[in-house]
Amino acid sequence: MKRTKIKDILQNEQTDYKVNVKGWVRSFRNNQFVALNDGSCIGNIQVVITLDTDEAIIKSIATGASVSVDGTVIASLGKGQKVEVKADSITVLGECNPEQFPLQLKNRPSLEYLREIAHLRFRTNTFGAVFRVRHTLAYAIHKFFNDRGFVYLHTPVVTASDAEGAGEMFKVTTLPFDDAPHNEDGSINFKEDFFGRATNLTVSGQLEAELGAMALSEVYTFGPTFRAENSNTPRHLAEFWMIEPEVAFNDIYDNMDLAEDLLKYIIDYALQNNREDLDFLAQRLVDEEKQKPQNERSELGLIEKLELVLNNKFERITYTEAIQILLESPAYKKKKFQYDVSWGIDMQSEHERYLVEKHFKKPVIVTGYPKEIKAFYMRQNDDGKTVAAMDILAPGIGEIVGGSQREERLDKLTQRMNEMHIPVDEMYWYLDTRRFGTVPHAGFGLGFERIVLFVTGMTNIRDVIPFPRTPKNAEF
Ligand code: 4AD
Ligand code: MG
Repeated sequence: MKRTKIKDILQNEQTDYKVNVKGWVRSFRNNQFVALNDGSCIGNIQVVITLDTDEAIIKSIATGASVSVDGTVIASLGKGQKVEVKADSITVLGECNPEQFPLQLKNRPSLEYLREIAHLRFRTNTFGAVFRVRHTLAYAIHKFFNDRGFVYLHTPVVTASDAEGAGEMFKVTTLPFDDAPHNEDGSINFKEDFFGRATNLTVSGQLEAELGAMALSEVYTFGPTFRAENSNTPRHLAEFWMIEPEVAFNDIYDNMDLAEDLLKYIIDYALQNNREDLDFLAQRLVDEEKQKPQNERSELGLIEKLELVLNNKFERITYTEAIQILLESPAYKKKKFQYDVSWGIDMQSEHERYLVEKHFKKPVIVTGYPKEIKAFYMRQNDDGKTVAAMDILAPGIGEIVGGSQREERLDKLTQRMNEMHIPVDEMYWYLDTRRFGTVPHAGFGLGFERIVLFVTGMTNIRDVIPFPRTPKNAEF
């Protein structure tokens, strides 16, 4: 018989029909009741096995084992579920020795422990929920752009450029470490390398997306990006996924509207399509908050937080205003910030979180950053000091989106590149867009794991990507 997904059985609540279900045993009670999960939803189906089931089979039904059940869906007599499966026959597909199985599902393993067994953590309710929500968000992102006529552009993973100019790149090479060819001046001769030049993993698909936007008008990328920055924080990964729309003819205000629309759309989509998972994650958060001292607990539950974002316009302020607010804040006056505040600083996460969590209590879009702390491609404002940058700061996370209107004026762009020692010659292809039919345009990057963190209420970015890559960690 063809397999029926547990989600479908639980959802339609019909009874008195034959099914085959397959999945992994979450628990086995009284040699009779199997809680079975197949990952299609957070809920388990209760399978009731007949009392005359073979003793050898009963022995091998244990938490973690995989089974196939043929049976009848009936109305459940027990509490907690409307329907259950009365087994006609049960086959153990794969046994699971409870003494060796690292996942003791019953006694709530810590997230830290689960990170060490990331290959098995999908089998927990929490990670099942997180990765279903992650999937939904990815789908919603594609749907959002597709519905608006954007072209999904696949930008390269291996590149020769440093889009952000921050020099935080992983090298890509096939040259032997112990016997690399050298130039006369002692430097490595990358002409002999696979691509005939030095290459690296991309830090952003933006520059290539800009090339596409100069013909297709509306494009977006959604792919893995890599940063060799040594930041061991709950919000940084060395390999993360980024969504980067790039739109010809958009200015910084259109850019803000697009980003706000996108964030609201995907949050709403998750609320509508993953409500069970989000309710579970909300409860998980409530339980976690109970461990914290009263004054550190968040006032809002997960669902309320998401609804608050949906129902309020994001605050829009300039960088100069943000600094002013920080300087006037009680936190600053009482010297609560670890890092100093003055016009020109690259705001630290504590500053960003003060603005969104304490001051505005909703997402904030900050524009007009000092040009010194932003990338070369951002459009220079008339004041000569700031650029048309925009960062979106989210409660509990800090920066979730970074973007800008781009400098479309060739002379201004090359001048800024020279100032910042960006190789103008090598980047001729980028500058060609400004030479041949340049137009105002704008775009941004949304850190995918950061929005997954926000929507799931998880607190460590390592827990929202299946296999995190962080400094000193590339297990699995
Ligand atoms: O602000 P960033 O560096 O901007 C860019 O890369 C631009 N090229 C984007 C664009 O305009 N097309 O990165 C964009 C976002 C950040 O706001 C953050 O959400 C996320 O990417 N991000 C990271 N997420 C996880 N781990 C890291 N190490 C991240 N670095 C940036
Ligand atoms: Mg940024």
